[in-house]
Amino acid sequence: MERTFLMLKPDAVQRGLVGQVIARFESKGFKLVGMKLMQVDRALAEEHYAEHRGKAFFEPTVNYIMSSPVVAMVWEGKNVVALAREMMGATNPANANPGSIRGAFGMDISRNVIHGSDSVTSADREISLYFKPNELVEYQKVGQEWLSE
Ligand code: TYD
Ligand code: MG
Repeated sequence: MERTFLMLKPDAVQRGLVGQVIARFESKGFKLVGMKLMQVDRALAEEHYAEHRGKAFFEPTVNYIMSSPVVAMVWEGKNVVALAREMMGATNPANANPGSIRGAFGMDISRNVIHGSDSVTSADREISLYFKPNELVEYQKVGQEWLSE
């Protein structure tokens, strides 16, 4: 089953949005398989955003992600990588559909509430950056037969 890495960024934690954002993924029917509240250090932040090294927003983004705790999560489900990106909305909350997470809860691109992997390859990379294999939990969730045949 496909997995993605989602992170509630420092603004989400500070603004008390953790429960509301997690509720959307639970309600959709995805399965939570890993979660921790953590402080990101510079090495991890720079590795996370390595693809953006050299861009003007790299340093501010790295500093922001280190500025306060984040909630790192792994979610599982059919097509979860692409669907979670859809649920998050556009990178800039100013352009994001108001029904999306960034559209509903965000105001500025530099404080856009949530990170989500942009491909299955990125998801594998990001999950292993943030989680040890034994931090991901295998379990059966009730009611799966009411989500899909
Ligand atoms: P990016 O990977 O392009 O967006 P996404 O998070 O949707 O995958 O950029 C990573 C983060 O960098 C983005 O969530 C917010 C920040 N950022 C800026 O602050 N300014 C920018 O112009 C861009 C493109 C991103
Ligand atoms: Mg990205």
